Amino acid sequence: MVRIEHIGIAVKDLEKANELFAKLFGQPQYKEEAVQSEHVTTSFFQVGPNKIELLEATSDESAIAKYLEKKSEGIHHIAFEVDDIEAEMKRLAGEGFQLLNEKPKAGADNKLVCFLHPKTTNGVLVELCQEIKSK
Ligand code: CO
Repeated sequence: MVRIEHIGIAVKDLEKANELFAKLFGQPQYKEEAVQSEHVTTSFFQVGPNKIELLEATSDESAIAKYLEKKSEGIHHIAFEVDDIEAEMKRLAGEGFQLLNEKPKAGADNKLVCFLHPKTTNGVLVELCQEIKSK
């Protein structure tokens, strides 16, 4: 793994959360993006070298909706940048971590992503992400 790429925060109301985090960081989000396959809308803030992702559910099927039902708003996942997501998925599966998707899938912000089940990572939902290189 290369570095922490972003921290994901689950929110109930993205519009309100955008306002709040814009006040907190002293600058607005730089991007808002729907990820239809995951039933979420995301927004991203740049804080110096770091990135924060806010996630709002757009349907009850969303993992974020289920998360908010069971828990409350707050830190949802930590995403780590990797150079070669397939190799890293293979390595981690071999180490006994449970992958939530068998193949990398398209995530927000031009990334291929894979999540690890929190029951195998001390309760932390871990996202692996690799930048999709434009040809
Ligand atoms: Co994320």
